Amino acid sequence: MIVIIDFGSQYNQLIARRVRECRVYCRILPPDTDVAHIESLQPEGIILSGGPSSIYEKYSPKTDAAIFKLNVPVLGICYGMQFMIDALGGTVRGAERREYGFAELHIKKEEGLFRGAGNKTPCWMSHGDSIKKLPGGFHITASTENTKIAATVHHKKKLYGLQFHPEVVHTPRGKVMLRNFLFDICGCKPTWTMRSFARESIAQIKETVGDKKAILGLSGGVDSSVTALLIHKAIGKHLTSIFVDNGLLRQNEAETLKKVFQQHLKINIRFVNARKKFLNELSGVMDPEKKRKIIGRVFMEVFEAEAKKIKDAEFLAQGTLYPDVIESISAFGGPTSVIKSHHNVGGLPKKMKLKLVEPLKYLFKDEVRLLGKTLGLPEELIWRQPFPGPGLAIRIIGEVTNRRLSILRDADAVLLEEIKNNGYYRKLWQSFAVLLPIKSVGIMGDKRTYENIVAIRAVTSQDAMTADWAKLPHKLLGIISNRIINEVRGVNRVLYDISSKPPSTIEWE
Ligand code: XMP
Repeated sequence: MIVIIDFGSQYNQLIARRVRECRVYCRILPPDTDVAHIESLQPEGIILSGGPSSIYEKYSPKTDAAIFKLNVPVLGICYGMQFMIDALGGTVRGAERREYGFAELHIKKEEGLFRGAGNKTPCWMSHGDSIKKLPGGFHITASTENTKIAATVHHKKKLYGLQFHPEVVHTPRGKVMLRNFLFDICGCKPTWTMRSFARESIAQIKETVGDKKAILGLSGGVDSSVTALLIHKAIGKHLTSIFVDNGLLRQNEAETLKKVFQQHLKINIRFVNARKKFLNELSGVMDPEKKRKIIGRVFMEVFEAEAKKIKDAEFLAQGTLYPDVIESISAFGGPTSVIKSHHNVGGLPKKMKLKLVEPLKYLFKDEVRLLGKTLGLPEELIWRQPFPGPGLAIRIIGEVTNRRLSILRDADAVLLEEIKNNGYYRKLWQSFAVLLPIKSVGIMGDKRTYENIVAIRAVTSQDAMTADWAKLPHKLLGIISNRIINEVRGVNRVLYDISSKPPSTIEWE
């Protein structure tokens, strides 16, 4: 495995991604990690990441220079290289000319890190500091017009430095360089697969949880489903998954989940029907934030009451993903795992004195999907579009009632059926129906109607931070509109939302 020391660069996740794309496992650790701990992980190589600081600033992040004595190859990238050079006795100064963006890299010899990289290749620079003097034993291996020491090496100690970022797509031969580092220099083997991850992870959960009991909040989303499956494989019946049916789910969702988990995967789940409780508490509430708070509180109450019935539970399993964890490391707050604010079970571990088990915390979303596939999770759960914790409550603008839930559910089911049948489901980040709080006049079979309006929202996105409205074909939109108006009682008008995020959000509330 490879250890990546995180000096705070925005590209750190990319370094990890690139390494894993080469099928080599890696972990990102904060700079204050004990060298003894790094050594205990037996890494085959260490990568020092970039970062926004200047090495000569008083509070710039530093890691123990003893890592250079571990006898493993080290690759310093940008700030990481500057840290290495400074720590080993060289000099780093503010550059006369800062370099941001593309630069042409002149490679002296196509060997080592640069084997197969050509002698001239574009590279992506983003630095205000440069190396002025190299420590003894280091040589310059590449330069750009503005940066004489754009790459360096200490052959004997296998220490490598790159001023540019090989991990970004703007450095087209960057992947070749990283591969050279991993395979030629560190001697890694491309053996890391989801199957091996699953095996190691199951063994680790067995060791941590042993014959103690664990509980898990199952939402039906891919993260909690994969977590449940993985932990079930490790400790079987000692895991109890709790599914709280808040009555705010899409059509047949609770039933599908039941079928998949109990019949297909043979995992025992406690289904708690709390529909009435949620609806009562939401009665008369119009404000979206109030709805969220109520739903969060009631969920906690219901989940806790159910969890308490499981005697001697010591662990709470959660589907926290790597991006959530990295965020906290990058803020130099230490590697504490953050619980997403919309993960409603957030306050539980402390309150119930439970220890956390987070087997996905080193995986990215697409890796979680792959893991799900490896473990045999059905496609419909693996590829489920994200669904918000407060569910349909934030898609019914205004008061949530049984009648309005039923209208929205029916309209949403028609929409999803058409989206799926026409091959759009996996292409879209999310697609759903929203019930508006206004009525409009229509005509149906010679009769005047005065009924509800449904809006359709379909967006493409990478991470939900930004999103674009999906350019669905007019023909498909026409079919969806027709079917909803004809098949869903109480709807006589359908709108298509053509706003992007920002300035709009994905959800309407
Ligand atoms: P917005 O509407 O902010 O949504 O553009 C971004 C993503 O977050 C989801 N979302 C939520 N998820 N609890 C959740 O679990 C919430 O309260 C919540 N609000 C929005 C939304 O579906 C989208 O994927």
